[in-house]
Amino acid sequence: MKWTIRILLFSLFLYQTCFAVVKENFKECSQSSFCRRLRGIKPDNSNYVLNLKSLQVSDNSVESELWNSAENVKFKLVLTALAGNMFRLYADEISPLHKRYRVENVLNGEPQVERLEVLKRTEDEVIIQFGDNKAVLKAKPFKVEFYKDGTLVAVVNGRGLFTIEHFRTKNVQVDGEENQLQQEDPGAWEENFKSHHDSKPRGPEGISLDITFPGAVRSYGLPQHADRLSLRTTGPGGLDPYRFYNLDVFEYLVDSTMALYGSIPVVYAHSSSNTVGAFWLNPSETWVDINNSKDQNVVSSLVNLVSGQASESRVDVHFMSESGVVDLFILMGPTPKDCAKQYTQLTGVAPLPQYYTLAYHQCRWNYITEDDVTTVVKNFDEHDMPVDTMWLDIEYTDGKKYFTWDPIKFAHPDQMLMNLTSTGRHLVVIIDPHVKREGGYFLHEDSLSNDYYVKTKDGNVYEGWCWPGSSSYPDFFNPTVFDYYKALYSKLKFDNVNNDIMIWNDMNEPSVFNGPEITMPKDCLHHGGWEHRHLHNMYGMVYTAITYEGLLQRNPNRRPFILSRSHFAGTQRYAAIWTGDNNADWNHLAASYPMCLSEALAGVSFCGADIGGFFNNPDVELLQRWYQAAVWLPFFRAHAHIDTRRREPYLFAEDVRHRIRTALRLRYAHLPTWYTLFYEHERFGEPVVRPLFYMYPKDPEVVDIDNQVLVGDSILAHMISESGATTANVYLPGGSSEYWYDMRDWRKYAGNGYTSFSVNLDSIPVFYRGGSIICRKDRPRRASSLMHKDPFTLIIALDSNNSAKGTLYIDDNESFEYRKQKYLYIQFQFKNNELTSSLIDKTDYETLEWIERVIVLGAPSGVQKAVLTSKSLGSVDLETHYSDDALIIRKPGVSVRESFAVKLI
Ligand code: NOJ
Repeated sequence: MKWTIRILLFSLFLYQTCFAVVKENFKECSQSSFCRRLRGIKPDNSNYVLNLKSLQVSDNSVESELWNSAENVKFKLVLTALAGNMFRLYADEISPLHKRYRVENVLNGEPQVERLEVLKRTEDEVIIQFGDNKAVLKAKPFKVEFYKDGTLVAVVNGRGLFTIEHFRTKNVQVDGEENQLQQEDPGAWEENFKSHHDSKPRGPEGISLDITFPGAVRSYGLPQHADRLSLRTTGPGGLDPYRFYNLDVFEYLVDSTMALYGSIPVVYAHSSSNTVGAFWLNPSETWVDINNSKDQNVVSSLVNLVSGQASESRVDVHFMSESGVVDLFILMGPTPKDCAKQYTQLTGVAPLPQYYTLAYHQCRWNYITEDDVTTVVKNFDEHDMPVDTMWLDIEYTDGKKYFTWDPIKFAHPDQMLMNLTSTGRHLVVIIDPHVKREGGYFLHEDSLSNDYYVKTKDGNVYEGWCWPGSSSYPDFFNPTVFDYYKALYSKLKFDNVNNDIMIWNDMNEPSVFNGPEITMPKDCLHHGGWEHRHLHNMYGMVYTAITYEGLLQRNPNRRPFILSRSHFAGTQRYAAIWTGDNNADWNHLAASYPMCLSEALAGVSFCGADIGGFFNNPDVELLQRWYQAAVWLPFFRAHAHIDTRRREPYLFAEDVRHRIRTALRLRYAHLPTWYTLFYEHERFGEPVVRPLFYMYPKDPEVVDIDNQVLVGDSILAHMISESGATTANVYLPGGSSEYWYDMRDWRKYAGNGYTSFSVNLDSIPVFYRGGSIICRKDRPRRASSLMHKDPFTLIIALDSNNSAKGTLYIDDNESFEYRKQKYLYIQFQFKNNELTSSLIDKTDYETLEWIERVIVLGAPSGVQKAVLTSKSLGSVDLETHYSDDALIIRKPGVSVRESFAVKLI
């Protein structure tokens, strides 16, 4: 066997076996020199002083010199007021030895600024204000306090951990002594991990900053971690900090602060009276310590007790990054909803996806031939199970050369695609960033001859191992490479593709099997001379931005769909994400809700987890529960590892098939709700799925609940994540005047907190919130594209005032015409025993959809009939009857385009 092949097989073997759940392959803070140093900074001993004599004031910001008095280095500090109740705090060296890396294209354009007023200005303190937001800059030690409506909500450098390690020259003698940092931490200048060496040509350049949130009881955000929704206390001797370093972690552990594939450094501190956010814009490796006063250890609690110190709750956050500038946004809230909107105001929203992408996706590594693909769809059809999209993993390519097809197994991709599209289905194919280093492969030849690849520290083309064996990695930060890659998605380059093929970008952390921590060495070089360390966490996002633009270039009037594994702040503008290589066990099922909820709070609503678990074989109970839970996450895809047994849902016994079919149909019935929510997300910036504290911020009981999800504000789902469950303890929020209707039997419950429900394998507890109107499509079909003309069922779930409202969004499901007013955005309202509809915007869009049925939950008794009034139908008497606890109004028959009223009599 050739050596190269041996090495390749060995790497694959290592990747697939040895790396399984091997924590030791990934660093802990103590193994990272910058994390060790920054975590080791002694609190309450800050050397940073603001020279407020130097203060310059403009309409929107104040700028001052910041002095590290111990090392006599000067920095510039700028505090800017931003529209929408946000502050931006920026700090950089004034005369650095090297320029520090400042990210581009992460924010959704330059944030809009706000006019501020200087209330006080002395050499000790400066106070600025805009709206009800106030910031107090203190000179010595440097500190910034943020007030909302007079209440102190955040303090930067309150604990004195602020540090910018200025660039310095190695081996300089300071006052006759060797550079102190060099003595104290040799790893600051070069570092080894396992067999890998990091040459650190610029030496230490770390930054650190602490924020205290007085009054906060919990904190959230900081995806991606396979952890709980509410962030846990980390700290020396306890949990390692939450780590941000996009990595391909094989068989990752749950309940862990270890790094995963994505990094979104935004955190929200929450109490029943206030929510505040902090977004740390930095794409280099970052660690975040959290300290929640509720987790104070026994000793400190005793000290407090003895000293009589008030133990007001608070959350302390400590950001530590390897490089870059300090660029911090304080989102002043004051509610979770305000914070989430502020964050999307900065980093953008997900554009409305095509309708079908919200339906069911069937994936597996791999559907092995064209026939396989066609047969799977046929089987779904034969078993009356809906599916919209088939996925092809890496084996469809010719020897892992992306943008090619296997000449034998996928010899007629155009034909295969036609088979799919003729039944209303779609195809997604995988395209990874590594490029096979094979002579004659156009992508490699082009990349090599045009100098498109990332370089080693010595300026040679970097070579690593991935699926194809020896591979190189394009430098997407080079604008020429960006444009070249964009063009690959046009029909000219990627043979036999057309508008119906969408793209899955995987392994884009990037994954390098033989690299340090399975990724690219930090001293590799990118365009502009930046080291990989400076921008690592953005590599995958930039790649998806190219794919997005490439698909747009291919067809400017079709909304692209991209699934990405690696992600960063702003990814939502280009791609959906998933939680990567999870395992077929109950813990990984349980992790799917908190993981996607954290992403949703951090702007990435379009999130899901591999249904059934990627690794290993789920038993049928787990598989059914997984489908039932996944119905209520935005991205709904089954996927499995190449070594697992086939588990397409039609392969099981009829009772299992029936339950999975029911789950799939439930998802399809609610597609109008998902679609409307995604439209509203694009328009208003709110997450599509939400944790309970988001909607009930004043309820202290909900702060740790993460096995329940709110879909918009009208549906509450409770997942079942243990085997053999016969009861479920569901938290119904909102108090006694909030009603919840069980989706299984329409029974009404008050929002009185924990309520026990008996469950069997058929379903999980899901509820409609009283006060909402949900538009469903209940006719079972094989694909969502076959439902576009189907009529709606309106479910009116009445609140304690006998009223309800809801919205419905409709357009052509695929194009950008909606941005030219080609849509309908409808408001339904029920009050005084009458349902009315009206258009929210004066737009026009032709649709054949009509209303087939209205179901009123919690309806008054004694209704005899209903009378419909509309322009086209005049006044029509409608039949009604009661069924269980609901009133059914038969066949209003009115078009959704038309404003109408239905009165109960
Ligand atoms: C890793 C991805 O996470 C997984 O979903 C995929 O099947 C494999 N790569 C093979 O492409």
